[in-house]
Amino acid sequence: MSDARAIGVFDSGMGGLTVLRALRAQLPHEDLIYLGDTARLPYGTKSADTVTAYALQATKQLLRHDVKMVVIACNTASAVAIGPLATQHAPLPVIGVVEPGARAGVAATRSNRIGVLATESTVKGGAYARAISSLAPEAHVRQQACALFVALAEEGWGTDAIAEDAAARYLKPLFSDPATAPDTLVLGCTHFPVLAPAIAKVLGNDVTLVDSAATTAQAVADALQAHDLMTDHGTAGSERFLATDAPERFARVGGLFFGTDIDENSVELIDLQL
Ligand code: DGL
Repeated sequence: MSDARAIGVFDSGMGGLTVLRALRAQLPHEDLIYLGDTARLPYGTKSADTVTAYALQATKQLLRHDVKMVVIACNTASAVAIGPLATQHAPLPVIGVVEPGARAGVAATRSNRIGVLATESTVKGGAYARAISSLAPEAHVRQQACALFVALAEEGWGTDAIAEDAAARYLKPLFSDPATAPDTLVLGCTHFPVLAPAIAKVLGNDVTLVDSAATTAQAVADALQAHDLMTDHGTAGSERFLATDAPERFARVGGLFFGTDIDENSVELIDLQL
């Protein structure tokens, strides 16, 4: 059996395009629909109830496009909403990014000291610490909220000197004591991979940076197989973009996250409250 319907992917803004990029590389034949809730970004400073309500609306919108699976390409929404989404829309497969990100961190660490950079909400909820502990109970997890990174990434300033300054300030508490410093940092927000060069410049070569994009793409591929949902049309898959505000801006800056230019005409303005 096969299924030619698209995979639905959403995030608060453009960060999830780092996951879309990995999905495109892993699944070249699948059609992908990406929804960026740009009107309501950031999610990372909002309450769990608000983010869950937004995530349910985004999923409802994607289901109007008849998607066969939903990928929550946002750590903040994955941390709080994966349970409610999966329950409300069962048997629709719903894949989040926190567990794959935790798996990438556990696979990379040599010292069992793992740092997690994420939004305030993800840090406060502790989803990464729980996911890492369940995979590696001996691991020590330290978290740091980096709210400003989201704004810098959305502004397209992820590789500027200002990003390095912000990274130096956020990272200082994690690395001030060599005895407890992590050897692996999980970029626990899908916006953060565009700041990876700035973060790496501050840290040097001794710390491994990982994110959830590749491991999430693998989890999606595994779930497609398990549910018999792979397409077999054999031609290159398409991408379609939905944004809740400023589609022109989404196309202009989104290419930095997706790694490929986004045509403004392929971005549709939508209203999630309708
Ligand atoms: N990209 C989102 C994440 O992975 C959050 C950014 C935000 O809206 O605060 O957590």
